[in-house]
Amino acid sequence: MPERKPPAAYGARAVAGLTGRLPNPFPRPLGPNALRYLQEVVDSGLTVDMLGRFERAFAEATGAKHCIATPGCTPALAALAAAFGFEPGDEIIVSPVTDYGTLQGLIREQYIPVFADVEAGSVNLSARTIAPLITDRSRAILCVHMTGLMCDMDPIVELANSRGLVVYEDACQAVLSTYRGRYAGRLGLAGAFSFDSEKTMGSDVGGCVITDDDGLAERLRFIAHSRGAVQEPGFGRIHAEPGYALRMPQCTAALCLAQLEVIAEQVARRDRMARRITALVEQVEGVTPLPIPDYQEVYSAWMLGFSLEPGRFVCDAEEFAGQLAEAGLTGAGTGKYYLMPAACTFLGEWAAAGRYPYSQPPASRTYRYGPEACPTAWEFLQSFIRWSTFCEKYTEADCDLVARIVGEVADRNRR
Ligand SMILES: Cc1ncc(COP(=O)(O)O)c(C=O)c1O
Repeated sequence: MPERKPPAAYGARAVAGLTGRLPNPFPRPLGPNALRYLQEVVDSGLTVDMLGRFERAFAEATGAKHCIATPGCTPALAALAAAFGFEPGDEIIVSPVTDYGTLQGLIREQYIPVFADVEAGSVNLSARTIAPLITDRSRAILCVHMTGLMCDMDPIVELANSRGLVVYEDACQAVLSTYRGRYAGRLGLAGAFSFDSEKTMGSDVGGCVITDDDGLAERLRFIAHSRGAVQEPGFGRIHAEPGYALRMPQCTAALCLAQLEVIAEQVARRDRMARRITALVEQVEGVTPLPIPDYQEVYSAWMLGFSLEPGRFVCDAEEFAGQLAEAGLTGAGTGKYYLMPAACTFLGEWAAAGRYPYSQPPASRTYRYGPEACPTAWEFLQSFIRWSTFCEKYTEADCDLVARIVGEVADRNRR
């Protein structure tokens, strides 16, 4: 019998029981109008269009033409994958350091995820790491702005345009982050967001897609909200495509609308605190915080992290993170599981077995998953320590405490 492992936990449950000297996001303070908007949903007997109100407000906040709200980013990206209508076996080049939600839709559409490695010292891919992976089966590039740090998008978009590929963004961890004056999610054809309870604009299990493309927006509504069905006079619903029922619930829309009213201020605070922590941790010998690129004006940091320089400490990252957590850095841990080619073990098994759709592309092509698919990312994650409990409750004093804890643990373990 295989060993039974406990199922993964999500949302507030995932951080339940964490202790430490720093804030954790739960219980989350919600925008002051949350109760009023929820009351409207109830008082209207579910007839109020809270979903439409949130969609218009989020589109306006990001400057997008359309917003299509869903019950999470995983469904938002699944709807996008379905809306693109590529063929099974087509390849999507995707960030390797991310959450499973980035991939789920691609896999369900029988597309093949091809992971581009990260730039050294970064959690993000780049045009340089993407370029060698482009083949005649490539259809799109899906960029994840990991932790809220923006990928260098202009060269990626330029590369994609030159090869006829779609670029779109998983902006789950980067709501209101900016890249050269433009918001995350606005740099390709479409951007997907998460309003999961843990996320920066935490509400419940919400998400959305934003896009300026009228045709894509219409297709997304048809597939994600109308289940791929049209109304046929004299018959009823005709299911022209296998669509989804992925409307954001009205009560979630009420919470999202309330959160949207306070998010800009919270993001500004996160940016300030993240930059302060980065500057302070940078001074600790042997420790390198994730660099904030010059092209990024606003860092809407969902989580923070740093890496240990090789050979500088007597312990590994796992042990170092354990000592940080013990010393009070709430939620400190490693993030090896973010490496999707290693975490999604089924991908390697399917590719090795030639299971559909891996039997579909030309037989000469072999797909490699596992850590060796992205050696730079794998190597980086061995020494990477992060805490996804970073939140808008942090004060300057909390930032100083983070740096003190990191400094003390580093001093204790430095060679
Ligand atoms: C980068 C990234 N993509 C996708 C997801 C999935 O989002 P959701 O939980 O809203 O489905 C997450 C959530 O953790 C994420 O961090």
